[in-house]
Amino acid sequence: MPVATSQDIAIVTVGVVLAAAYLFRDQIFRSSSPKVVVPAPSKLANGHGNPRNFVSKMKEGKKRIVIFYGSQTGTAEEYAIRIAKEAKTKFGLTSLVCDPEEYDFENLDQVPEDCCVFFVMATYGEGEPTDNAVQLMQNLEDESFEFSNGSHRLDGLKYVVFALGNKTYEHYNAIGRKVDTLLTDMGATKIGERGEGDDDKSMEEDYLEWKDGMWKAFSEAMGVEEGQGGDTPDFAVTELDSHPPEKVYLGELSARALTRTKGIYDGKNPYPSAVKHSRELFQAGAERNCVHAELDIEGSGITYQHGDHVGVWPSNPDVEVDRMLYVLGLYGKKDAVINIDSLDPALAKVPFPVPTTYATVLRHYIDICAVAGRQMLGVLSKFAPHPKAEAFLKSLNSDKEEYSNIVTNGCFKLGEVLQLAAGDDIKLCPTPDNTTAWAIPFDIIVSSIPRLQPRFYSISSSPKLYPNAIHLTAVVLKYDSIPNRLVESRFVYGVATNFLLNVKYAANGETAPFIAEPVISEPAHVSLPKYAIEGPRGAHIEDNIYKIPIHVRRSTFRLPANPKIPVIMVGPGTGVAPFRGFVQERVALAKRSIEKNGPDALADWGSITLFYGCRKSNEDFLYKEEWPQYAEELKGKFKMHCAFSREPPYKPDGSKIYVQDLIWEERETIAKAILEGKAYVYICGDAKAMSRAVEDTLARILGEAKGGNAEVEGAAEMKILKERSRLLLDVWS
Ligand SMILES: Cc1cc2nc3c(=O)[nH]c(=O)nc-3n(C[C@H](O)[C@H](O)[C@H](O)COP(=O)(O)OP(=O)(O)OC[C@H]3O[C@@H](n4cnc5c(N)ncnc54)[C@H](O)[C@@H]3O)c2cc1C
Ligand SMILES: NC(=O)c1ccc[n+]([C@@H]2O[C@H](COP(=O)([O-])OP(=O)(O)OC[C@H]3O[C@@H](n4cnc5c(N)ncnc54)[C@H](OP(=O)(O)O)[C@@H]3O)[C@@H](O)[C@H]2O)c1
Ligand SMILES: Cc1cc2nc3c(=O)[nH]c(=O)nc-3n(C[C@H](O)[C@H](O)[C@H](O)COP(=O)(O)O)c2cc1C
Repeated sequence: MPVATSQDIAIVTVGVVLAAAYLFRDQIFRSSSPKVVVPAPSKLANGHGNPRNFVSKMKEGKKRIVIFYGSQTGTAEEYAIRIAKEAKTKFGLTSLVCDPEEYDFENLDQVPEDCCVFFVMATYGEGEPTDNAVQLMQNLEDESFEFSNGSHRLDGLKYVVFALGNKTYEHYNAIGRKVDTLLTDMGATKIGERGEGDDDKSMEEDYLEWKDGMWKAFSEAMGVEEGQGGDTPDFAVTELDSHPPEKVYLGELSARALTRTKGIYDGKNPYPSAVKHSRELFQAGAERNCVHAELDIEGSGITYQHGDHVGVWPSNPDVEVDRMLYVLGLYGKKDAVINIDSLDPALAKVPFPVPTTYATVLRHYIDICAVAGRQMLGVLSKFAPHPKAEAFLKSLNSDKEEYSNIVTNGCFKLGEVLQLAAGDDIKLCPTPDNTTAWAIPFDIIVSSIPRLQPRFYSISSSPKLYPNAIHLTAVVLKYDSIPNRLVESRFVYGVATNFLLNVKYAANGETAPFIAEPVISEPAHVSLPKYAIEGPRGAHIEDNIYKIPIHVRRSTFRLPANPKIPVIMVGPGTGVAPFRGFVQERVALAKRSIEKNGPDALADWGSITLFYGCRKSNEDFLYKEEWPQYAEELKGKFKMHCAFSREPPYKPDGSKIYVQDLIWEERETIAKAILEGKAYVYICGDAKAMSRAVEDTLARILGEAKGGNAEVEGAAEMKILKERSRLLLDVWS
């Protein structure tokens, strides 16, 4: 079996020392929760030795490139690192990859002429920056913000922009575009074209298509030639012969989790929350599952508000962990203790805690279930077990259409593509006998596969009714891949939702149709994925109660404080999740008001209207039994309109009735509530089609109410609503 490292044995000693040091550092995962923006210190403090001065860092490190990333959930950061790696490989240029939150921008004008600044920027919400880019954007936008030259000018500054966004959102790539416009207006010089990646289609393809032209323009503008660099590894992976077992990370997400010490629980130190109660929300006969889970936060110090999000940290399923271990030829030493050092910490930080084991990295720390990237396949082709496998990977890497047909449509994970390339049967449960081992150094795997990220869920409870529990409502993701000439269609399972489903099955003692046992089916075929839900060292099970690592992310999706203001909520499917929390919030307030002011306390309250949609009233109607009770407690103030899309009545032309159709039916009341009652409008759920269709309907209603049309008067009213934060969206795709 090949040793899965491309590094020398001499690194072992250094590795042991560093490993011990690593254990106590407060490192690991960058939080995706909102961060406090540190105010920029004065210009005087912005000199050498100031850790917030990126220009002096560039000079000290002889870097000609600085790359800032505006990132919330890590994608922009990954692309920033990829750009840095490519600059090194192509031109031998090393880069400073920077979180903009950690730097000041007054000396952006001092970036030397032979250097270049990259901005890799994601967009959120209503065209807003990520939390870590708020200060940067303020500095660029504020015309009174002076650079060290005493003006708001950046003449001569060379820059490149890669924007990350999603076309289903109205403000597509607004931040990348804004950075570009602002820099040009300030006199800076753009190198190449601005890149724009669409998360909805293929971020990867957009990046690949953009980068070659950009590097060509870069080489001309910077006067550098390709071929100056080389393929140097980012990490050194070292197997440790002996290491205190209690100091080896086996899936713990923080040093505190390893030492089981208390502290603040956040995105850097998720809280192992006991699943107090969980149940299936869809009725028998529904084709899908939807998990309701109640997560205990008592004594954790965690608080939440209605409308916040909960981040769930899943692990990867057994079958995919095993597949990768066999493919990498590491199964025999899956529990060997390894340390990983960054060979260029400015370029690539070790993205998870170490020392750890091969199996732990694959199970807990990296995203082995994502669709394999085209570029990555090119990198791995040189480790192919035979020429045919190498040719297969090379053709996927170079032929965009072939890659799209086979890998994207087939939804193939890296392990599956490698099996397919080697001629293995990917339908079978992977075993050493049916899986070809590839001699891929483990440091390449760590460099190529991004970190496993938490998944966010709109909290479906109110802290006023449930101060010690966070409720979540997750529809379990299981979909068919598109067949291709090599593989027929098969089920693809979402990582976090099936993890939650596993926990629910186990917590309730339910039997799940897991992987078929060899005795039942020979050879065993993959069915529902199974997870190691007991957690590292069994830390996630206690007295038969399971725990899952979570953290809370604050949101601005909130009810108006004054209950007299009418509220309109639109949330089909799981989009109803936060509105259960909203309604509970109002129920708690109603109870208090009635206790204090008597039975008529709600007389002057505004209406609370929920537009909900699902497929069938007796199949996937979420929290069906709860709504009448809430309506009673809210004394007629709460009204619910339901669109059951797959049962009669249908529209006269036979098409489905959706929430936007019910909104249109209620147009008079809605227009009055918004225009006269200053109602707040909330939309949650699908960003692709639903939220747009609902916005269009609202524009039409408001436009007509104003005596005009959707495009002019309606659009103007919608703009006002958004500017005044009376139209709030919590949507995803
Ligand atoms: C702010 C926010 C709030 C959210 N709130 C909720 C909530 O309350 N309830 C809820 O259920 N979800 C919610 N989500 C979605 C949730 O975060 C996860 O994305 C979802 O549960 C899937 O996670 P997973 O790990 O199971 O799937 P993953 O393993 O992450 O797989 C998801 C990926 O699969 C791919 N995919 C999905 N469907 C298909 C398909 N039909 N064909 C091809 N590819 C496909 C897409 O690339 C998608 O990104 C929310 C998301 C955000 C951003
Ligand atoms: N990224 C992910 O992995 C992921 C995971 C889960 C969910 N999601 C997204 O989250 C959204 C909510 O998922 P869900 O499963 O809870 O919802 P769902 O059950 O798929 O849909 C809820 C209701 O909305 C209807 N609907 C479909 N298209 C609509 C449109 N254009 N306008 C208004 N209503 C429409 C559906 O009708 P019909 O189905 O009968 O047309 C159904 O009645 C989905 O849109 C999905 O794209 C994404
Ligand atoms: C809640 C949410 C809101 C988003 N809003 C927008 C948006 O307004 N415009 C846009 O172009 N992309 C939007 N996106 C897409 C993100 O910019 C895109 O997924 C990006 O790759 C995220 O990068 P990150 O992982 O570095 O944070 C949104 C994504 C989410 C999850």
